[in-house]
Amino acid sequence: VIPLSLQRRVESLIQDHYDRALLRSDRTNAMLQGNSTSEDVKEIQPFANQGSLIDAHVMEKILYRKSFRMKNLQRTWQESPEGSKMLNFRKSLPAYREKERLLSAIAHNQVIVISGETGCGKTTQLPQYVLESEIESGRGAFCNIICTQPRRISAMSVAERVSTERGENLGESVGYKVRLEGMRGKDTHLLFCTSGILLRRLLGDRNLNGVTHVFVDEIHERGMNEDFLLIVLKDLLSRRKDLRLILMSATLNAELFSNYFGDAPTIHIPGFTYPVRTHFLEDILESTGYKLTSSNQLDDYGQDKLWKTQRQLMPRKRKNQITSLVEDALKISSFECYGSRTRDSLANWNPDCIGFNLIEAVLCHICRKERPGAVLVFMTGWDDISCLRDQLKAHPLLGDPNRVSLLTCHGSMATSEQKLIFERPPPNVRKIVLATNMAEASITINDIVFVVDCGKAKETTYDALNNTPCLLPSWISKASARQRRGRAGRVQPGECYNLYPRCVYEAFNEYQLPELLRTPLNSLCLQIKSLQLDSIGEFLSAALQPPEPLAVQNAVDFLKMIGALDENENLTNLGKFLSMLPVDPKLGKMLIMGAVFRCLDPILTVVSGLSARDPFLLPQDKKDLAGTAKSRFSAKDYSDHMALVRAYEGWKDAEREGTAYEYCWRNFLSAQTLQAIHTLRKQFGYILKDANLVDLDARTCNSLSHNQSLVRAIICSGLFPGIASVVHRESSMSFKTMDDGQVLLYANSVNAKYQTIPYPWLVFGEKVKMNTVFIRDSTGVSDSIVMLFGGALTKGEMAGHLKMLDGYIDLFMDPSLAECFVQLKEELDKLIQKK
Ligand code: CDP
Ligand code: MG
Repeated sequence: VIPLSLQRRVESLIQDHYDRALLRSDRTNAMLQGNSTSEDVKEIQPFANQGSLIDAHVMEKILYRKSFRMKNLQRTWQESPEGSKMLNFRKSLPAYREKERLLSAIAHNQVIVISGETGCGKTTQLPQYVLESEIESGRGAFCNIICTQPRRISAMSVAERVSTERGENLGESVGYKVRLEGMRGKDTHLLFCTSGILLRRLLGDRNLNGVTHVFVDEIHERGMNEDFLLIVLKDLLSRRKDLRLILMSATLNAELFSNYFGDAPTIHIPGFTYPVRTHFLEDILESTGYKLTSSNQLDDYGQDKLWKTQRQLMPRKRKNQITSLVEDALKISSFECYGSRTRDSLANWNPDCIGFNLIEAVLCHICRKERPGAVLVFMTGWDDISCLRDQLKAHPLLGDPNRVSLLTCHGSMATSEQKLIFERPPPNVRKIVLATNMAEASITINDIVFVVDCGKAKETTYDALNNTPCLLPSWISKASARQRRGRAGRVQPGECYNLYPRCVYEAFNEYQLPELLRTPLNSLCLQIKSLQLDSIGEFLSAALQPPEPLAVQNAVDFLKMIGALDENENLTNLGKFLSMLPVDPKLGKMLIMGAVFRCLDPILTVVSGLSARDPFLLPQDKKDLAGTAKSRFSAKDYSDHMALVRAYEGWKDAEREGTAYEYCWRNFLSAQTLQAIHTLRKQFGYILKDANLVDLDARTCNSLSHNQSLVRAIICSGLFPGIASVVHRESSMSFKTMDDGQVLLYANSVNAKYQTIPYPWLVFGEKVKMNTVFIRDSTGVSDSIVMLFGGALTKGEMAGHLKMLDGYIDLFMDPSLAECFVQLKEELDKLIQKK
């Protein structure tokens, strides 16, 4: 066991060397002295801000002339035939009736809160009203309006829509800016951006100079960034009396926000929606499920006999589809498990009960029996959506493109796909959109008549006590359920199929817990620190609903553990870099380390892989084959991360040779995910470049990429404290995490097939809590790597496992780095000998 005092000294030694390594480059120094040239920040600086460079009087003249031009342009468009047609459409939206009231409220109050049904015209109209009225009053060039969106895709699609409504191209008076992408010009006066972008802008420009109006949209979602923004903006309002803040929300929870801003006035936009009939699971089973068992529906499933014995549980071996449909129905129809209405018992309800087959059955029912109209299916996430889509594609009716147009709607979809969602399908073709909860409020599809709701959404939940984050599907709130249902009644009376029983609905929370209260605060605390606000705790206590002190403490501890904060909670050099990267601190650290230690290529792949889905497919019926295919990439590396690096590199080669398709097929790899990883790699590369950490063109950032041990060490540096010790006992192996918890390996981890692993530690990206805790992807690492790259040293029982450094120093082939670490080893050895 290493005594604590020694640990402390080793820790400070490592930190010291680490900081020195970071400081080595001139560019690094420039960064730390604040000469940031971050593109993101530069791009969002408003035009008016550049005025300080020119004589103020001349500037004003230029702006007045520009305003005059803007007014002429706007009038010309509004008087043109297309323009007036567009204007007529816009006048039909409920928001239009409130236009004057809204504009006058905005003029007379610093803060207002606006609520209204989704689709009533908040996002596309309100910022536009302000822009139009400013232009009309001849002050167009003086206004700078920012409207934040919680998601990239809504910022982009809304900006496009608004420019169309104004008869312009995107990037003229209306633009957008999301992370790593943007379209705005010197004439842009209305900018849609993600809330993250505005926060980053506030980092560099605390007063939001030149901005006249800030709209914060979708505040009802209570995203972390939005809650964070509100704290910062509230503080800013006292300094910028001329700034206008407009909060917009879909569901009615306006008092909360109004109270937060000292009883700011609220305006509700009344909307009209058609009634929507709700069917709960019990009704569906009666009307759909059981009908499906009668003869006319059976051909699709092929085996009618099974249905006649529907009351008996089918043996699992039977044809997959049928048995699980019956099982779904049976499991779900035995409602005992919902008996108690506490959230706990709900949490234990197996979400798999909402089988795809039930959704398939409901969709079949709609397509066969119901009137025309598009269907919107709410699912939990992209994994589910893509699996269900594949299943439906194989269905004789739902997979027939002449009868059904099957589309998906999720955060990472391409723009072309996005357009299809809004288009009307040809006559006699039914549009079915499989969507995440993104379609709940931020995107409006006009022709939806039927909604199928699985009642869950993937949300990060966070248990401060156990300090484990988990991204799990959990029950939505009543407000969300109402919102989802409402999507069916926009054009005519609609139908909503809730795939859960009424008693489950009754037990839903009224509103969803704000993200601030259910996610780890690591990233947030880092940002607060770099904003040089008060102490983290004090700052967060000003939130709408402040997080628990324990959660804040955990985040601070975590940041100390990875070396982003020092003992006194001040940002270290690493911390300063991390706060500049718009990524999770863990991933950020891995990227920085990859750049510093010049093995960027493999690290970019690993980080992208950790952010994307797993590209290794695991078909139920070919698990063994798929497992073998994956382990071909691992070559005694004892590393899933290295397997990914090899698979990705193989794919790139195959692409060059035009054999990518065969390559993926042969190796059970998802081409789509590899493509996503490829895109993410580029993005992460740009992020590093943007932060001036690497020069992507230079060979130097990869001069050590071939050094396997080094790459392993860098993976460890990012994933720590995600680490488990490997305990060999007789012929079996078990794994123990830092908090002494027992964990198991995922079946498709390359490490799961070994009897022994010649490494004392496994580092891993995430723990997933199911019945037991599993670790997904892991990499074996040695003691010395853990000591040098594992952040602060481990304490207590774990420390007993740590052997001292052995001959790992030759690892660092770059002379300057090697020097640094040879020195470190000597000092370490001395310390150990003294003991
Ligand atoms: O923000 P809110 O939900 O209140 O509505 P919105 O996004 O401003 O949309 C108002 C209306 O504009 C919708 O009802 C659609 O009819 C239309 N719209 C559209 O046609 N195409 C888009 N990309 C966005 C909105
Ligand atoms: Mg909206």
